[in-house]
Amino acid sequence: MHHEILLDLTVPIAAWYRSVTAEPRDDDPWPTFREFCLERSTSIRHTIATQTTQTNEIGRCAVLLPVLKIVADEVGPLSLLDVGTSAGLNLNLDRYSYRYQPGGGLDPADGISSAILPCKTNAETPVPAAIPIISGRRGLDQSPVNVRDPAQARWLQACVWPEKPERFTRLAAALEISREHPPPVFAGDAIDDVAAHAREAAREGIQSS
Ligand SMILES: C[S@@+](CC[C@H](N)C(=O)[O-])C[C@H]1O[C@@H](n2cnc3c(N)ncnc32)[C@H](O)[C@@H]1O
Repeated sequence: MHHEILLDLTVPIAAWYRSVTAEPRDDDPWPTFREFCLERSTSIRHTIATQTTQTNEIGRCAVLLPVLKIVADEVGPLSLLDVGTSAGLNLNLDRYSYRYQPGGGLDPADGISSAILPCKTNAETPVPAAIPIISGRRGLDQSPVNVRDPAQARWLQACVWPEKPERFTRLAAALEISREHPPPVFAGDAIDDVAAHAREAAREGIQSS
């Protein structure tokens, strides 16, 4: 249903969806929902028969960053290999802004990012002092998403719960960033192909350091 709405934001049922409506209706959506399902049944059946859930959550970067910074402080610039990368959006983690609460904010070298990731911390959290330098990046996935294909990007957005507008907004920002900086994402299996990609990631990291 969310996918059908993203294809046409003017449909009446969109008025109940937080992801696409600033002030969503809170009355009973059922009559409108039912009518829309019946109207679009061919398209909805096709989607159900051909698509599988695919997500990419950049909010995870806020919890990966402290650990990556600890590693970078020991070894220098990092070459990332993200296994199960989806669209590879987490490979752009140095292009996002972070707001650790408490702990302060971190921004990319060129200023505040359009993708801002809040993260609650406690006394144990090793809040990083800087975003680590990324010298290489590659992603591996059995069903990679091409961020430059509007249909694939739309499906990724459709798989975000519509009642989580903050997730929807940050995914939209990350997709926009990734169109300018498309993450190198490869089709492959996490077990069969990881060793070859790890070797490549290491080689790329050394070359660009
Ligand atoms: C829940 S998504 C998480 C995506 C991303 N890592 C994130 O944090 O948002 C899991 C991803 O793992 C991929 N995946 C599952 N099994 C895999 C396998 N055996 N080899 C490669 N990718 C796999 C899926 O296609 C999917 O993109």
